[in-house]
Amino acid sequence: TASLPLKGLNVLVTAGPTQEPLDPVRYLTNHSTGKMGYALAASAAELGARVTLVSGPVSLEAPAGVDVVRVTTAQDMFEAVSDAFAAADITVMAAAVGDFRVDGVAPEKIKKAGRESITLRLVANPDILAWAGGRKRDDGSQVLCGFAMETEHLVRNAAKKLAGKHCDMLVANDLREPGAGFATDTNVVTVLTPGGPDEQTPHIEHWDLMDKTALAKRLLLRLAALRG
Ligand code: C5P
Repeated sequence: TASLPLKGLNVLVTAGPTQEPLDPVRYLTNHSTGKMGYALAASAAELGARVTLVSGPVSLEAPAGVDVVRVTTAQDMFEAVSDAFAAADITVMAAAVGDFRVDGVAPEKIKKAGRESITLRLVANPDILAWAGGRKRDDGSQVLCGFAMETEHLVRNAAKKLAGKHCDMLVANDLREPGAGFATDTNVVTVLTPGGPDEQTPHIEHWDLMDKTALAKRLLLRLAALRG
């Protein structure tokens, strides 16, 4: 129906940061608050979808009518997404996943006594979005959207991610743009989809500053339309 355009669809969303432990009391993380991902999950439910939200540690409440899977590390997030992905018609990865984790987490608290420095060795986490891009069905029935936060070369970097991770849409935002980025209730995005002027160049749209909820709705309707 017109008011429930996502009725019958399964939507999978990732949101928030991940926490990568160093020892039992410390972790590496980032400034993600989960606002964009939670807005997407809430909006998808309001538009009639069945929604699974895989969320890193955030202080937001679960949106009404959404199945929330809480995770801590990137590895946990990967496992939760790999359980849900095959059933998802639309997948939006808005999480700020830690690219690296500590190799050999210390079993006890790391002590400072007598040490001038310590070295942490980091190893790469799985790229969940790239994994999903590599295994989505090729009949067009699964639509995949990634996000990219950049501090420079926004469009060039985003275009690389769109193609490299086999996404159907890539939503790019500039950390330093006023009204965009972490912890704000608004966002300013550039939306990239394949099929621009030539094979190498995506289709690019610059959207004006929007409330994250309004942006979420607009993105979801676009993604549903891409699915056809
Ligand atoms: O390459 P970059 O981390 O900037 O890509 C951002 C996009 O990839 C986001 O959609 C993010 O959720 C996703 N991502 C992921 N797993 C990672 C790293 C990024 O799903 N390990």
